[in-house]
Amino acid sequence: MTASPCILLTGAAGYIASHTWLALQEAGFTVLGVDNFVNSSPNVLPRLREIGGQPTHFVEGDVRDPAVLDRCFEVARPLGGIRAVVHFAALKAVGESVERPLDYFENNLGGLLAVCQAMQRHGVFDLVFSSSATVYGEPERLPITEDAPLRATNPYGQTKLLGEELLRGLGACDARWHVATLRYFNPVGAHPSGRIGEDPRGVPNNLMPYVAQVAVGKRPHLNVFGNDYDTPDGTGVRDYIHVCDLAEGHVAALRYLFAQQRSLTVNLGTGQGYSVLQLAQAYGRAAGREVPLVFAPRRAGDVAACYADPAQAHALLGWRATRGLDDMCVDSWRWQSTNPGGFDS
Ligand code: NAD
Ligand code: UD1
Repeated sequence: MTASPCILLTGAAGYIASHTWLALQEAGFTVLGVDNFVNSSPNVLPRLREIGGQPTHFVEGDVRDPAVLDRCFEVARPLGGIRAVVHFAALKAVGESVERPLDYFENNLGGLLAVCQAMQRHGVFDLVFSSSATVYGEPERLPITEDAPLRATNPYGQTKLLGEELLRGLGACDARWHVATLRYFNPVGAHPSGRIGEDPRGVPNNLMPYVAQVAVGKRPHLNVFGNDYDTPDGTGVRDYIHVCDLAEGHVAALRYLFAQQRSLTVNLGTGQGYSVLQLAQAYGRAAGREVPLVFAPRRAGDVAACYADPAQAHALLGWRATRGLDDMCVDSWRWQSTNPGGFDS
């Protein structure tokens, strides 16, 4: 291993990858990114350079294109060669996946296959895979442990479940593969610099970006989807995790792969559930203004409560989330209020 191993991040300009990029650099890794900007902006790159104080090595292109991936391995040669890949690139909107299932299967599974094939061509077998708590479907027991039953209720979730299975199959046939499957709970917040954060296109599907746009005055109120769930205040409960904690989880996973040379599957969550109302109130405190609410019917496909048992990540990776709900809201608000137009601000 070189002093500063080079890690390839696919989907590198996206929300979670851009924060992971900085965490990896801070931990002493060299980073090479690849992205086709299907759901991100090239404007993230100068900001990464500004915050990280290092050059941003980057290849623009689609990970389903083998030539693009070969180019990544070539560009990385003078950087010491790619030591491992973190595969973030995917489409992630649940509703859209129901409308365009084949696009999701093609992009998410085709992308994963192309990445594994390129890794094999270049003799690299350490992979971190972005999975999701969505693979648990409607949980039978809370908090959710990694051995809970797996089921997917929409094409997006199916791409994560099938992706996990594909990687398990690969590892079972060929012992050179070591895969860290990370099941993220609900990533929120932004880098404390306020220079990078989540920049959804159109109407946000997820709670915190929606609340952020209400707080900044872009939208009149938050629609609270259901207040008759079997939860303490009747609204949905989720395990929100600061994106910087999540980013550090990837650093820990890579260190595990390098040191242990074995695969693992872990939840990355805090273990603490918060309701929609609790999150809206915390955001109101961070923004110094109340978030207006309107109660609306339940959203199809939503579960009442979903939060992780994060013990396995702590036991295996020595990692645990350290930032709380107020940090998540304060950092999100700093990003939202100073960049009301996202990366085009
Ligand atoms: P994101 O959309 O911000 O980032 C994904 C990036 O991948 C984007 O920059 C997009 O342009 C790129 N991309 C997509 N398809 C590509 C392709 N074929 N070639 C090259 N680039 C491509 O999403 P995110 O929230 O940062 O999510 C990152 C990963 O984490 C995804 O795999 C997602 O499914 C997973 N995940 C996200 C969440 C969440 O709530 N944000 C939760 C669980 C899992
Ligand atoms: C979403 C994804 C899921 C993914 C998970 C992790 C959907 C349908 N599901 O689910 O696949 O694994 O993120 O990131 O997108 N809410 C409102 N008003 C809003 C938006 C949300 O009340 O405008 C509520 C929801 O009903 C839910 C909670 O807020 O109770 C969180 O919603 P969201 O941020 O979309 O996350 P998940 O539902 O966990």
